[in-house]
Amino acid sequence: MFRFALTRRDAFLVLLGASSMHLWSLVLQGLNPSAAEEFSVVPFGRTSSSSALLDTVTTTSTTTTTVKMATTATSTITQKATETQVVESLEGWSYAQIDKLAELQFLNTRSDDVLPQTGLIAHAPGWTLFRNLYMTNDTLYIVTDKHFSTPSRSRPEYSRERRPEFYGPKGEDLTYGYTQADGWPEIRMMTSTGLSAVNSPENIASREPIPQNMQFISVKEARKRWGEVVLTDEHGKKRTESRVWIVQGNSLLVNEPSQFLRHYYHLVAELFLGVQAFWHSAFTPAIPKSESALPVHFSTNHTADAPPIHRTIFIHSNADGWRDGPGFNRYFLRAAFPSLTVEHEEDWQDRVAASMEGVKDGSSGERVWRFPVALLTDRSAAHRGGICGSETQRIAAEAWDHMRKEGKLRGIHVGGWWAPVREAIWKFAGVEIQAGGVIDGEQVAFKVGTNARAGKEDDAHLAHAHAVAEEEKGVVDVGEETQAALPMPSEIVITYISRQSARNRKLTVDDHKLLVESMDDLVKRKNEERKVALAKSPKDTIPPWEFRVLEAEHLSKDQQVQAAARTTILLGVHGNGLTHLVWMKPTRVSSVIEIFCPPGFAHDYWWTARSLGIRHWAMWNDTARTWPDKPNVDYPECFQQNAIPVHGPAVAKLVEDRIDGKL
Ligand SMILES: *[C@@H]1O[C@H](CO)[C@@H](O)[C@H](O)[C@H]1NC(C)=O
Ligand SMILES: *[C@@H]1O[C@H](CO)[C@@H](O)[C@H](O)[C@H]1NC(C)=O
Ligand SMILES: *[C@@H]1O[C@H](CO)[C@@H](O)[C@H](O)[C@H]1NC(C)=O
Repeated sequence: MFRFALTRRDAFLVLLGASSMHLWSLVLQGLNPSAAEEFSVVPFGRTSSSSALLDTVTTTSTTTTTVKMATTATSTITQKATETQVVESLEGWSYAQIDKLAELQFLNTRSDDVLPQTGLIAHAPGWTLFRNLYMTNDTLYIVTDKHFSTPSRSRPEYSRERRPEFYGPKGEDLTYGYTQADGWPEIRMMTSTGLSAVNSPENIASREPIPQNMQFISVKEARKRWGEVVLTDEHGKKRTESRVWIVQGNSLLVNEPSQFLRHYYHLVAELFLGVQAFWHSAFTPAIPKSESALPVHFSTNHTADAPPIHRTIFIHSNADGWRDGPGFNRYFLRAAFPSLTVEHEEDWQDRVAASMEGVKDGSSGERVWRFPVALLTDRSAAHRGGICGSETQRIAAEAWDHMRKEGKLRGIHVGGWWAPVREAIWKFAGVEIQAGGVIDGEQVAFKVGTNARAGKEDDAHLAHAHAVAEEEKGVVDVGEETQAALPMPSEIVITYISRQSARNRKLTVDDHKLLVESMDDLVKRKNEERKVALAKSPKDTIPPWEFRVLEAEHLSKDQQVQAAARTTILLGVHGNGLTHLVWMKPTRVSSVIEIFCPPGFAHDYWWTARSLGIRHWAMWNDTARTWPDKPNVDYPECFQQNAIPVHGPAVAKLVEDRIDGKL
């Protein structure tokens, strides 16, 4: 072990070999302790003047892997790459600094330790964030000795004969991300064969991972294969070479096929919603479990951002495979992540082929790719988890709930963890973030007293939110009580996403007409009442009402986002259009009313709305149901047909009661 002896003021940074810097692990409190042992870590000088540090860092890397880092003119540190270091503390370091540090690390692609062990940063079924994940010939490798040195591995890796007490009737993992004695989750909770899913026993079996998908490998074996490979040239001269190539930066590896990726809902509100919940939270320090943390749970302040994802690789999808018909997916990806590089299965296969070139001609053997930071997502593996598999059928729910329980989901009551994406889309679409009641990225709840219905009532809501947080001992959840602590919007905008010009799943013609009439009447009456009230007491702030019928095909994508950002109540028949709820602003009365043909129900928008702190109602003609009175999932024959009933006046009543604070 090596420690730098530093004086307090010695601002410094150490750049070790590519190798031993496991920066991300440092940020993870609550890291699985057994996995933590596998990380070798880096010392940090904690200094209050550290902020300017990284700007002055220069690096030189020599082929002998000695790296010099001069942080100031007076302190130069030279250190061999292979030494194991100890972390002092990351406190006081911004994520930008850590990120920069990681970037510097990636510059040093040749070092003694070309084969650092794989680390587990975070895991939930279907969501696994790795440090140093390897790939050769289309097989992902976890380089670890722990796996092999841990005795009594009770559960065979590729067999379905597992400890039955851990599994539900459909094979779902009831341990919610349980890791084995070696600190690693089962491979089937991380990956699958990546085949499309249908609900048959043969298909379920065909998606169970095989050794070709993912394997554990010992350090010794990995070194033999890729670390110090002895090669002989045509003159019989021998040389030793490392066969490891680094894919620099942070990668998102999407293992699911195009089956679901090609839908707006599944790509944006499921895959990327889950990515954001998992990634943002993984790089976020745990929120203290105390009442004093309450502001964090209500905050969309995300100045301490997670590092960027540099590339997404759709391993089993081509360029068409993740694009939806209306084109919202491509709009989303470029608008929210302008710098993201996207690779497809062809690109992945290029890497696979390149890794095997030396085998083909017998000259030099296989190569391996190393991904320094990689988030692997797998739809089938997520469905093996209890939350997705038996409760919600939403892959994002595994990511979200894991981070919620870890106490890392920031701004849970206002979708604060999602806010960076939401605000990026708002900005791209030209939403005036300060205007129209759209919140401005500042804390929400603590503006109480300045909003439309300020007063004692707000204090009571807030006090209740305090009490709930206390009761839950810090593991917070979303709920109507906490939503009630948010401010009222400055305008009430009801947006009805009409499917009447779509091919299927429409309201009856008369019910659609009555619905529009009922909402028009309501809005007219409310605005008249407002006029009268303002005439009496002009100083009151009473929000104006607006009702809009939105036919997505007649609006640009920018216009749709603008409409969603202003929306207080989103109304519509079950369908992709309701995905726009992820662009709604969080307010006290933000709601989604989803119309089903009774007794139809699906979890898509119910769970998604809830995950962002937005209230959801399932509407069956004249009957509304909301959490916790959740209907069972049901797809009756009329679900997809064009005679769905809805009673317009009942919807209008629901909206009025909701805005009036009666619901
Ligand atoms: C590479 O993978 C393919 C497909 O699984 C397999 O047939 C082949 O034997 C592998 N090559 C080597 C050298 O392992
Ligand atoms: C937002 O976060 C930054 C950095 O964590 C902090 O300095 C700032 O005070 C926060 N703003 C609010 C309104 O909480
Ligand atoms: C819908 O609700 C209305 C009002 O209660 C009722 O009159 C109508 O018969 C209902 N329609 C269906 C199809 O149940």
